[in-house]
Amino acid sequence: MAGRTRRPNWSEWLDRWDRQQESFNPAREARFTAMMDVLEAKLGRRFTLLDLGSGPGSLSARILGRFPAARSVAVDYDPVVRQVGEGALGTFGGRLAWVDAKLGAPGWTHELPRHRFDAAVSTTALHWLTPRDLSRLYLDLGRLLRRGGVFLNGDYLPWDPTDRDLAGLGRKHVRLYLRRQRSTPRDEWRGWKQWWTAARKVPALREAFAEHDRREAGHPRERQVTLSYHVRRLKAAGFRTVTVVWQIFENRILFAVR
Ligand SMILES: C[S@@+](CC[C@H](N)C(=O)[O-])C[C@H]1O[C@@H](n2cnc3c(N)ncnc32)[C@H](O)[C@@H]1O
Repeated sequence: MAGRTRRPNWSEWLDRWDRQQESFNPAREARFTAMMDVLEAKLGRRFTLLDLGSGPGSLSARILGRFPAARSVAVDYDPVVRQVGEGALGTFGGRLAWVDAKLGAPGWTHELPRHRFDAAVSTTALHWLTPRDLSRLYLDLGRLLRRGGVFLNGDYLPWDPTDRDLAGLGRKHVRLYLRRQRSTPRDEWRGWKQWWTAARKVPALREAFAEHDRREAGHPRERQVTLSYHVRRLKAAGFRTVTVVWQIFENRILFAVR
């Protein structure tokens, strides 16, 4: 009908999101699967978790698909990705809640619909947090997770830059991978910039982008918080076991038990 904008196919937008994320993390699905294997091994198949910096919900969708009795609370402060995720996944049959909150900011936990979780998971997100916000987030997780609950962070977690033998090795590996990838057939959704540029043209996302731009004014730059910093802050927040359970160079899953 004239004048009415057609509802975008949000599932297609989520699929494109996955393709652009995979283009710089080819082990993304393997990392998701390893995280889910740890969840099942430690918690069984019924649990309630937090998905921190969920984006449009790729990880929550996989977890809820594999574990039909699980529930997830997806937290992200970008209205664009939340709108895409809500459009594509909805509430996943009443098992997925979406929360607008800025992780690590004072009082962010007040936005949560509950304050006790069996697990918290995150992928490719916490590197945006300042060390101070990350420390605060870990203290909050120390309170939100029940005893025996687990935290899993899948992200690029760098070695110490002062380590002469390891510093820079992870970045060089990523560069080598990207160089090899140039010779493979091109996916038009390769690279995050393509996704964001195309999404900006979607009329249904206009308001979300206005808010996204307003919030990004104060958006910090990407941080290089080392693996050892994460381990120290998790231990300080009361996690009893903190260790890497999966890795390809600096692309790792950090696992912690409350
Ligand atoms: C690269 S995306 C990854 C999204 C998703 N976890 C995935 O693996 O596809 C990083 C996400 O973290 C979110 N994010 C970054 N810092 C945040 C913060 N302080 N609070 C909430 N969300 C944050 C961004 O808005 C973005 O959606």
